[in-house]
This record gives sequence, structure tokens and C-alpha cells, in this order.
Amino acid sequence: MTNRIAIRATTKDDLEQVLALYPKAFPEEELRPVVSALLEEGSDVLSLAGFDNETLVSHALFTICGTEARCRAGALLGPLAVVPSLHRLGLGSALVHAGLERLEGMGIDQVFVLGDPAYYQRFGFSLERQVSTPYPLPKEWADAWQSMLLGSGEPIAEGRLLLPKPWMEPALWGP
Ligand SMILES: CC(C)(COP(=O)(O)OP(=O)(O)OC[C@H]1O[C@@H](n2cnc3c(N)ncnc32)[C@H](O)[C@@H]1OP(=O)(O)O)[C@@H](O)C(=O)NCCC(=O)NCCS
Repeated sequence: MTNRIAIRATTKDDLEQVLALYPKAFPEEELRPVVSALLEEGSDVLSLAGFDNETLVSHALFTICGTEARCRAGALLGPLAVVPSLHRLGLGSALVHAGLERLEGMGIDQVFVLGDPAYYQRFGFSLERQVSTPYPLPKEWADAWQSMLLGSGEPIAEGRLLLPKPWMEPALWGP
């Protein structure tokens, strides 16, 4: 299946399809505002999608970020979405791998994610304790804050992650 799916960076022309995917992948969460703000405002993001012919079936967003001492040394992965009818076929993994490879080529040192460790561990993510989230996480989400180093990347030693404005919304960092 994955070899039928072409992965490429999205353009403004894909915005409608990107936004149409989110209510399908996240029926109980409203992620369209943050995704559209990041894409429309031209924030510093890597936006990758998988296409089956011209139909968008998966999407991953990586936002360039850092700390006060190491601005632009990191990227935040999220959200990541695959159309439900095509789950467990490797589409999510293919997007994550493609993103990590591109970010390494861009000189990014460390990638962060807030997500299920059971899924993200397979890519090399592990618990992050040095760099904190923009807002404190609820206790039950503590294990979900993870990071991984890319290539010979230097860890972003410590500090609070600085992100573009669309991410500065407490509701995005809690249940
Ligand atoms: C999570 C998601 C992106 C995974 O994409 P996918 O293409 O289905 O996943 P892949 O085929 O690459 O990987 C499948 C593996 O991941 C596991 N997996 C999928 N979703 C998972 C989850 N939420 N938690 C833990 N493991 C998960 C599957 O069990 C499978 O494991 P296996 O290889 O041991 O059998 C997709 O299920 C999705 O869009 N879910 C809804 C939105 C979401 O929860 N996004 C992630 C936010 S953190």
C-alpha cells in the first residue's frame, strides 16, 4: 500500500483536503484551527502529505521551534493523521520517517512530540525531561512528552519550548 502513496510537501492548493482529513482522523478533537493557522500564516512548518493519485490520505505537520538558548534547533511533530479506512498500513510511519529525514537535512537537531509512547517509540522517541512544554501537562500525560535526536544532533539542553502563536493555546496541551 505505502508504495502506491506519494509523499510530498503540501501547497496552498491542498489546504482544503488537509483540513477535510482532520475531523475524520480526530472525530473528538478540533484541530483545524491550529493546522490552518500554521499553514495559512506561513509559519515555519514542514507540512507533508500522502496522496493516493490526487486524493490526500495522510498528513503530518512539523513546526520549527526551539528554546531561548537554541532557537530553531528543534521541530515539533504534530498533528499526524491518516484517513481511518487506511489505518495500520504503514502510512503514518512513512510520513514520520519522511519528515525526520527532511528535518535532518535541514539541520534540525531534535524532534519533539506529544503522543502515545506505544506508537512513537518505534521511531526512536523517548521520554523528554529537559525541555518543557509551553504549558504544564496534566499528570496523566507526563509520559506522552517525548523527543528524539536526529543524526549527530546536539540535544537542546533545557528550557521551555518556544513555538509560533497558533500553538500557544492551553487547550492544545491538555485533555
Ligand atoms: C496514529 C496514526 C497516525 C497511525 O497511523 P497508521 O498509518 O495507522 O500507523 P502505521 O500503519 O504506520 O503503524 C501501525 C502500528 O501503529 C500502531 N498504532 C496505531 N495507532 C496507534 C496509537 N494511537 N497508539 C499506539 N499504537 C498505535 C498499530 O497498532 C500498529 O502497530 P503494529 O505495527 O505493531 O501492528 C493513525 O492511526 C491516526 O491517524 N489516528 C488518529 C489520529 C491520531 O491519533 N493521531 C496521532 C496523534 S498523537
